[in-house]
Amino acid sequence: MNILVTGGAGFIGSNHIRFLLENTRDRVVNLDLLTYAGNLENLAGCEDDPRYRFVRGDIRDRELVRSLLKGEAIEAVVHFAAESHVDRSVEGPEVFVTTNVLGTEILLEESKAAGVGRFVMVSTDEVYGSLGSEGFFTEQSPLAPNSPYAASKAAADLLCRAFFKTFGFPVIVTRCSNNYGPYQFPEKLIPLMIANALEGKPLPVYGDGLQVRDWLYVGDHCRAIDLALRQGRPGAIYNIGGGNEQRNLDLVKLLLDRLQRGHDLITFVADRPGHDRRYAIDASHIRAELGWAPTVDFASGLTRTIDWYLANRPWWEKIRSGEYTAYYAKMYGAGGRHGGTGDA
Ligand code: NAD
Ligand code: TYD
Repeated sequence: MNILVTGGAGFIGSNHIRFLLENTRDRVVNLDLLTYAGNLENLAGCEDDPRYRFVRGDIRDRELVRSLLKGEAIEAVVHFAAESHVDRSVEGPEVFVTTNVLGTEILLEESKAAGVGRFVMVSTDEVYGSLGSEGFFTEQSPLAPNSPYAASKAAADLLCRAFFKTFGFPVIVTRCSNNYGPYQFPEKLIPLMIANALEGKPLPVYGDGLQVRDWLYVGDHCRAIDLALRQGRPGAIYNIGGGNEQRNLDLVKLLLDRLQRGHDLITFVADRPGHDRRYAIDASHIRAELGWAPTVDFASGLTRTIDWYLANRPWWEKIRSGEYTAYYAKMYGAGGRHGGTGDA
């Protein structure tokens, strides 16, 4: 099968391309704009594989998308490309709408015209909004996104529904909880905290730190997406989650313990506006229909992740010494949105 992967130079997309090259005989074309979050180092070693091709480009570029789908005889699309960071969507929502909503619409329309046979939309549990202390998100939970990021993903997710209902286009939507693992950009909670701890910098915890996330190892997400691609029902939505709820503060303390650093590095900073309190996924639908289950428990997933960030220091040090420095100062420095750490 010829598969177009969008956003394959990012965190989950690069893990997914490695998964495809290692476990299938498919050909993979990776369309990625290489924004601040895209990094070809995430795919080191893949370039030499004759089944892999990288194309630098924008999913909003209709002509490019059209010619790639035709020229590469694409049969399936796995759509990861997105602006993905909630805090950046608070600072500047517009690019979230153009990339996540318009970009998805262009991909859907051109894929339909090209006769693509399967289209997996990598959506997120954040489309459901926030839970109280009880209950889980099911595929029937109402969409109630709270951040501009989540709203843009919900719009894209609903466009997929519309393309299935209106045109019978075979879209499958996955809504996964928080991922962690190798190659995650160090603006997200786990890699940010690991890197700061290793550098002896303050660990900025938003608000009271009692927000809850349901963490899934990235490899388990990739397996679920691949199952959805090959065996999912067109028009179906699949929730994906690890059944692994952690309070942010507990997780940060656990990371410090694992890295043998003191809890005194924890610094409480201004909360994220509109901060969702709790996410928790009911993944019984994908378990029953596709036989998926997570295989990596949190303790060993965290060990693998920490070991990867320890072994790949140059990867994240390079990121943190570039444009990221200005981002960090703007967000976390004195006077920044999450200011309060002073020298961070
Ligand atoms: P990421 O930010 O690490 O990667 C996004 C990739 O998309 C980057 O390589 C970037 O260069 C590329 N990109 C951005 N705009 C583009 C454009 N206009 N055209 C082409 N490429 C573009 O994100 P991630 O964490 O790997 O997430 C991937 C997908 O999975 C996203 O759609 C996200 O919403 C979804 N998701 C993420 C999580 C998570 O925990 N990280 C959970 C559920 C769903
Ligand atoms: P994040 O990794 O940005 O994922 P998401 O917002 O998509 O869940 O954040 C995970 C949780 O960690 C979220 O509740 C916000 C919190 N957080 C902090 O407390 N401090 C930080 O510096 C960051 C980046 C996140």
